[in-house]
Amino acid sequence: MISIKGLSKVFKTKDRDVKAVDHMDLSVDKGEIFGVIGYSGAGKSTFIRLLNRLEEPTEGTIQINDQNIIDLSKNDLRVARQNIGMIFQHFNLLWSRTVFDNIAFPLEIAGVPKEERLKRVNELIDLVGLSGRGKSYPSQLSGGQKQRVGIARALANNPQVLLCDEATSALDPETTDSILDLLVDINEKLGLTIILITHEMHVIRKICHRVAVMESGKVVESGDVLDVFLHPKEKVTKKFVDQVMGDPDREDSLNLIQETYRSGEILQLHFVGENTNQALISDISRKFPVDVNILHGKITQTQKGAYGTMLVQLVGEEAEVSRAIDYIRTTSVEVEVSPNV
Ligand SMILES: Nc1ncnc2c1ncn2[C@@H]1O[C@H](COP(=O)(O)OP(=O)(O)OP(=O)(O)O)[C@@H](O)[C@H]1O
Ligand SMILES: [Mg+2]
Repeated sequence: MISIKGLSKVFKTKDRDVKAVDHMDLSVDKGEIFGVIGYSGAGKSTFIRLLNRLEEPTEGTIQINDQNIIDLSKNDLRVARQNIGMIFQHFNLLWSRTVFDNIAFPLEIAGVPKEERLKRVNELIDLVGLSGRGKSYPSQLSGGQKQRVGIARALANNPQVLLCDEATSALDPETTDSILDLLVDINEKLGLTIILITHEMHVIRKICHRVAVMESGKVVESGDVLDVFLHPKEKVTKKFVDQVMGDPDREDSLNLIQETYRSGEILQLHFVGENTNQALISDISRKFPVDVNILHGKITQTQKGAYGTMLVQLVGEEAEVSRAIDYIRTTSVEVEVSPNV
């Protein structure tokens, strides 16, 4: 649905050129929630602003539904933008207008007649969970409520794409979760394609189907969220995964364990989806004369199911331990023997 090829943006400043986005290629499917994660300065905001040409690209193409956004005239762009909603970290609401009038604003610009506007705004207010707050002013709302107004306004013209630039970064964790739930809800209800950028892996974990990791204007790694969590390749990706899975004590405890229990074999088990339970552990102890010590484990939920890793030690006769490992290999749980951690 969205196909981005060779997209670059160079900012020319007095003393040097800044390559904020550097030959990015990316494709996003219809109806998916696609996350882009990166540290400050990676080029995330520039990238997302290129998608609706709030920023003019230096080179590259952006196809949205077979329309090359880059080629559009000013007038055509205005029409195309009605199909691309956007929400912002600091909400960008009109402070002198009520909630109702903020949401009505893009409809006024699109020339929607008053009666239809009234109906549509009321629908949107209900959709984002702000019933009864239509007459309030933004200053009377909490951060989460303000972002709900932002979302309703972005959806006013029934866009097919929603761009989110750090939409939850100004919110506390609980409010973040409620806004993320709302995004999943509208993604499912409306079949909306969502591209969101963030520097928080928690946001990616919770709602995205696929993710791209950005560093210095480039996509350095991308894939299904579950795959990226399980097998992060780049250093920067590993750091992000550690935000969610990290446990600073893990390395220490592993060293201690290896010193303490010199016998046996240490295994790292990767559980994905429905296998994410401990049935395997009891299964092994039942089938083989080995003891299974659980040393460390962390299981977490993503949009595509639960996943996690567990560090265990198998203790017993060498031949039996090795049979037990062979058995684990026949299941869909991935196993690493003597993992480097
Ligand atoms: N208008 C501009 N003029 C010059 N340089 C810019 C401009 N906008 C962004 N940059 C530079 O481009 C690079 C990418 O910036 P961008 O805002 O896209 O990063 P970001 O990933 O969104 O960071 P953050 O997480 O802090 O929002 C940075 O080096 C920034 O200084
Ligand atoms: Mg930014």
